Amino acid sequence: MATLIRNLSQIATPHGRTALRGRAMRELVVHEKAAIVVNDGRFAFIGCESDLPAGLTIDDDVDARGATAVPGFVDSHTHIPFAGLRESEFNRRLQGETYEQIAASGGGIASTVRATREASQEQLSANVLARATMMARYGTTTAEAKSGYGLEKEAELRQLRAIRTANATSPVRLVPTCLAAHEFPPETRGDEHARQNYLRAIIDDILPAVAAEKLAVFCDAFVERGVFTRDQGEVVLRAGQLLGMIPRLHADELSDTDGASLAAHLGAASADHLMQISEAGIAALAASGTVANLLPATSFFLMSERYAPARSLIDRGGIVSLSTDCNPGTSMTESMQIVMQLATLQMKMTVEESLTAATLNGAHSLRLADETGSIEVGKRADFVLLDAPSYLHLVYHFGVNLVTAVYRDGTRVT
Ligand code: NIG
Ligand code: FE
Repeated sequence: MATLIRNLSQIATPHGRTALRGRAMRELVVHEKAAIVVNDGRFAFIGCESDLPAGLTIDDDVDARGATAVPGFVDSHTHIPFAGLRESEFNRRLQGETYEQIAASGGGIASTVRATREASQEQLSANVLARATMMARYGTTTAEAKSGYGLEKEAELRQLRAIRTANATSPVRLVPTCLAAHEFPPETRGDEHARQNYLRAIIDDILPAVAAEKLAVFCDAFVERGVFTRDQGEVVLRAGQLLGMIPRLHADELSDTDGASLAAHLGAASADHLMQISEAGIAALAASGTVANLLPATSFFLMSERYAPARSLIDRGGIVSLSTDCNPGTSMTESMQIVMQLATLQMKMTVEESLTAATLNGAHSLRLADETGSIEVGKRADFVLLDAPSYLHLVYHFGVNLVTAVYRDGTRVT
């Protein structure tokens, strides 16, 4: 089955089968007046339309009418298996209460934990599928999805099974992460002994059960003041590693707890958030293979002035990716387009860096850069058509959905 997409104004993509770091993040391959040929779900030709090989047998001939093609976005940090929404807490934040105050009064992660524990397996799968469908409409073709709103064995397993079930029909390829160390369960509040028991349960019971069912590729922990300490995070991630799960880490989000250095030290796939990262943390990440996964929609939605230091991380040679952090408390969006706009306009990344971060570098952190994240011959044909004459419009023409078509594995999904 061969598909020809012709009459593209432009194809713009990073290039390679691994992440681009530092200055190389700006190096896009751009073809003008271009065409794409997809064969059996993979890119077979990319280039100027005038260079199309003669004698191709094409089953489906698509006129892109001047669209720009970019790789499908890779959203490498989301919390989409949740139930319940928190718009009234959001409204309280608008009246002046802080995220931490709301969490301390029993809201925050705990309120989503209550709703998620009550949800059935079917309901959670339907929620994942609904969120993934919205992501696809905004151009995402691969997304990571974390548990972490169960905080007890069965509810954590239900969240991860929901990802597996939804993945069978999802327009977006889903990659699961166990985040049992997202918070201490609400019922352990103020009880140090009970908290220690939960930590033991993660290591002795939850992670082994997740591994036995092969429900997660990655293991994550929220290392934060008042949540998991650096040492506790390390213990959890090492336990996950022994069971074959690759570490990722919520690091230095609301306070600097030296999480970035821990992620680098463990060889984690990513260190995420980093709004409060220290100079030492920046140096450690820049010198490592760990991806700095930045989530500017979270700063924006928390109405914080503080964004992660993207410029320092890139200028010092680090690998930066971008993600939505889609969750009901701190970033209620599925749109990688707004994330790229915030990365550029608030964190001062270039549009080229933002596109690389939102595609190839995210794919690398999910260990999928060999298969997706760029438009190049042999890779899975995951790409997006934009109603735009060039990739610059991804930021220039902000606040609208430029996506007119989404292909995953060569099949149109949106
Ligand atoms: O990534 N950092 C912790 N977890 C989420 C917030 C989760 C919530 O508020 O429900 C985050 O920001
Ligand atoms: Fe998160």
